[in-house]
Amino acid sequence: MSLRQLELPITQRFSTPRLDVGYRERLDDLLWSDLNFHSKSSAYASHNFHAFPAKFPPQLPRKFINGLTEPGEIVLDPMVGSGTTVVEAFLTGRQAIGFDIDPMALRVCKAKVTPLALEETATAGSRVLRRAEESLRHDGAKLHQELDARFGETEREFIDYWFLPSTQLELMALMREIEHVQAPHIREFLELAFSAIIITKSGGVSMARDLAHTRPHRVQDKTPRSALGEYRKRLRKNLNNLATLTRGSGKVEILSSDAQSLALGDNTIDLIVTSPPYASNAIDYMRAHKFSLVWFGHSLNSLAQLRREYIGHDAVTGIEYVELPESTCQVVDSIAGIDSKKSKVLHRYYSEMTRCLAEMVRVLKPGKAAVIVAGSSTMRGMDTRTDVCLGEIGIHVGFELRGIAVRKLDRDRRMMPARRKHSPVHSQIEERMHEEYVIGFLKPESGKLDGAIQCSNRSMSDRKLALILRPQAACTHPETPDSQGRPAGRAWGAGPGPRWTPASPPRPGRAVCR
Ligand SMILES: C[S@@+](CC[C@H](N)C(=O)[O-])C[C@H]1O[C@@H](n2cnc3c(N)ncnc32)[C@H](O)[C@@H]1O
Repeated sequence: MSLRQLELPITQRFSTPRLDVGYRERLDDLLWSDLNFHSKSSAYASHNFHAFPAKFPPQLPRKFINGLTEPGEIVLDPMVGSGTTVVEAFLTGRQAIGFDIDPMALRVCKAKVTPLALEETATAGSRVLRRAEESLRHDGAKLHQELDARFGETEREFIDYWFLPSTQLELMALMREIEHVQAPHIREFLELAFSAIIITKSGGVSMARDLAHTRPHRVQDKTPRSALGEYRKRLRKNLNNLATLTRGSGKVEILSSDAQSLALGDNTIDLIVTSPPYASNAIDYMRAHKFSLVWFGHSLNSLAQLRREYIGHDAVTGIEYVELPESTCQVVDSIAGIDSKKSKVLHRYYSEMTRCLAEMVRVLKPGKAAVIVAGSSTMRGMDTRTDVCLGEIGIHVGFELRGIAVRKLDRDRRMMPARRKHSPVHSQIEERMHEEYVIGFLKPESGKLDGAIQCSNRSMSDRKLALILRPQAACTHPETPDSQGRPAGRAWGAGPGPRWTPASPPRPGRAVCR
């Protein structure tokens, strides 16, 4: 398999998924269907409780969940982010498991899948606002003291740099009252609304200009809005959407864990829908999230340590690199010619994704699907070819690759990486930055991963989740021939729909990257 073989034209003709076909044909049909969803709103249920970079539209996981699982079955997102997949699983009556290492992601997710008594929550929110207003009016000195006691020296400097003194007092007044709320889930809901007024694309109530794209810049001439006013508005919005969450009937577990080592048993999951971080640390989650995490008691030092653990981070020492398959190795090598450090960063990313994909194939039930939504990024002006490389790595760890669909991103509606300075504005690469790939994998029916590399050497047996220790549903989707004449697992050529599947898996031998 060479890179040239993969350069097939992208076409945008879609077909409608058929209902009366077997499981793998249904996966193929879904990959061939329209996955753009540009005219669709994503502002329903809890999806907009809090901003989050690189969320995918809720219609995307919903389509695969509805098409490939039955109510009660288990859907996994091992890099759950703001929880789009698990919210959709919850709303459609599935069980769901989400993992992430980002403390903000975990907070966002948990609140988004926790239905609450509306009246009780609204009353608690009103009380927080009323009492915060009172303490600002009458108790300024006490608030100053609490502010001083709350932060270490480094965090204090950070807060002083990014928040006006008047905003700090307002936030302190809110936080103090939120912390007094006894019911844990209601408190978490109120905390999330607090965070949502800080982490916004425009920098919210902080002095940051932009928390979405660039390194945050402090702007002198920004007059941040009143934190109390913003909190009132955000609370109203989230309460309105909370009402619709009570319609969900699924069961959800959100856990802090590295996607490279999942605390799940083998052959236990019915469907995976996930989107990994971009290669090359193109979206730095912690850069924005620390703006509110410091208010929740995290030290900047601990957050900086954690940041190194994110998939795609650019630290290159102390990393367990794996040998990559041929085309992926070519991509990594092509960057080494220009910048050897960047090439190592990419090697790190694809090593981490190898471990993640190996975990995904391990935990999936035989014959079931993993849908990976990945964007491309550039390094030194060169495309990291996420579609090709993740497709190839998936095969390498034992998946059958059914297809890679291309979806166009709606740049206006999504927090995405900024254009890199080396990337020409009208180049093919720039064009590719506006698309993302939906990679459809199947775990072989036999469940055997012969020839696949085994990446996870950590024992899972003692850490299985009770949630998935339930009678295993039999696969009810018999094989049926493809009515469109596409032989399964073969190259489909330059026709419409997903743009590439391999003619045959790559050789088991691995190329050695420089
Ligand atoms: C593209 S985002 C997922 C967005 C999600 N699909 C949504 O709609 O909100 C990728 C997520 O991967 C998480 N992540 C990074 N490194 C991780 C790791 N080692 N284990 C688990 N999650 C990780 C990031 O914290 C981030 O939340």
